[in-house]
Amino acid sequence: MQLIAHRGASGHAPENTLGAFKLALEMGAKAIELDVHQTRDHELVVVHDENLKRTGGWKAAIKNLAFEELAPVDVGSWFHKRFAVERVPRLEEVYDLVGPSVELHVELKRGSSLYPGIEERVVDLIQHRKAWDRTLVSSFDHEALYSVRSIDSRVRLGYLLGLTPMRTAWREMKELKAESLNCSARQIDARRVRECRARDLRVLVYTVNTQKEASRLAKLGVDGIFTNFPELKPE
Ligand code: G3P
Ligand code: MG
Repeated sequence: MQLIAHRGASGHAPENTLGAFKLALEMGAKAIELDVHQTRDHELVVVHDENLKRTGGWKAAIKNLAFEELAPVDVGSWFHKRFAVERVPRLEEVYDLVGPSVELHVELKRGSSLYPGIEERVVDLIQHRKAWDRTLVSSFDHEALYSVRSIDSRVRLGYLLGLTPMRTAWREMKELKAESLNCSARQIDARRVRECRARDLRVLVYTVNTQKEASRLAKLGVDGIFTNFPELKPE
């Protein structure tokens, strides 16, 4: 079972920062998940929420900020003062940091409905870096996945289930040629794993932070888990 460092090694360092990604690499992670939003001036930035309130003490929506305004914000101190140097990374910087042998799960928090042109920009980056093999684009915003697929048939897609009924989800995953069903630990059981197998879909489960839960999912035959603790050793 693959361990995917969720927002980096975010159990040990502030989520979605270069510090958390570096630590994940040092801990031997072979796959890293991160979240992407877009600034007013169309910069792709790595952060989970739509604003920096929780991690940087800033209420303004990212979509209304220029990258220059967001760049100085300390997004590490909330976790621990020794991370005060951490800033919101641009997606490009994460690709620069993480070598080609490590898979990046790039979660688009929203598509063009909130961030005009975000799908084109992400695909441009993947194409420019010839990063098709090492990138998996995922989203709860399935329209965003359709946009990505319409731009480039080579991009690997993960379908984040959310509240979508399974009938719709199976159809959409087929239309999208998605590679994986990404769902929460509460949404998976042996039957659903079998249904994914029958459709040649991998099963990736979030967010799994204990040894016990990781071992349970490994026994179910899940292909990968998103975890804040990449040191887990599921039996
Ligand atoms: O991609 C899996 C997981 O990251 C989805 O939830 O809220 O942690 O981005 P969230
Ligand atoms: Mg995520």
